[in-house]
Amino acid sequence: MTRLQGKTALITGAARGIGLAFAEAYLREGAQVAIADIDISRARAEAERLGSAAIAVELDVTHQASIEAAVAQTVAQFGKIDILVNNAAIFTAAPIAEITREDYARCFEINVAGTLFTLQAVARHMIARGGGGKIINMASQAGRRGESLVAVYCATKAAVISLTQSAGLNLIQHGINVNAIAPGVVDGAHWDGVDAFFAKYENKAPGQKKREVGAAVPFGRMGVAADLTGMAVFLASAEADYIVAQTYNVDGGQWMS
Ligand SMILES: NC(=O)c1ccc[n+]([C@@H]2O[C@H](COP(=O)([O-])OP(=O)(O)OC[C@H]3O[C@@H](n4cnc5c(N)ncnc54)[C@H](O)[C@@H]3O)[C@@H](O)[C@H]2O)c1
Repeated sequence: MTRLQGKTALITGAARGIGLAFAEAYLREGAQVAIADIDISRARAEAERLGSAAIAVELDVTHQASIEAAVAQTVAQFGKIDILVNNAAIFTAAPIAEITREDYARCFEINVAGTLFTLQAVARHMIARGGGGKIINMASQAGRRGESLVAVYCATKAAVISLTQSAGLNLIQHGINVNAIAPGVVDGAHWDGVDAFFAKYENKAPGQKKREVGAAVPFGRMGVAADLTGMAVFLASAEADYIVAQTYNVDGGQWMS
């Protein structure tokens, strides 16, 4: 299939995990992809592995100059950006009594401000170019309701859902579709970190929380990154032209909204 033939995509946090799976899926569909990440050595290694349609771009979404440089580099190398996936994020967890301002600020700076200002920088390029575009934000089931130990991360993902709605409504006049994906529990390095938090706060053995959440998914297992690529390709394609400001759950039946 070549549903993204001739398109160019910038994916943040794409050096591993879900973002990397999206990069691979977009390449299979004929797009050129900028693998943007704070971990530039991993991004370079993956871009090299994936071939000449992939480039590595150094990006720290907490720094405006880095965002603007990443957009400029992608436009310089590909000529344009048709698709942005705002995927970079971090997880954090703590009981309310133990949340620190530093942890709160870091998580909001990456997950919310990083999403908004990367979206803004790419939207400015898309508006100036006049060809429309597709922007996909990574939300989470954690943005649908709070969780006892996950107040800050849940709040960042609720903010991503809200930003998707506002940006979607504001940018559709320029032919830019802004939508989001809300995954459930997706196995990988991210969830290894989540598992470690729960091992600490719920006194569980390593791996126990993963087994519990996997068993609780109606589909019967945790997700893997490949479970999300169909939605990521669809939302980036012309088939999604009439879809505006939505957040889609791709979570094995965890959440209904
Ligand atoms: N894994 C899950 O279960 C799950 C569930 C729901 C939502 N999500 C969301 O999906 C997205 C991808 O998750 P994942 O599991 O692949 O995570 P991951 O931790 O494996 O990957 C995140 C990537 O973001 C990069 N990154 C971190 N800080 C950055 C910064 N300041 N600037 C640029 N890049 C930065 C990291 O280097 C890493 O490559 C995230 O938005 C996450 O919140 C994941």
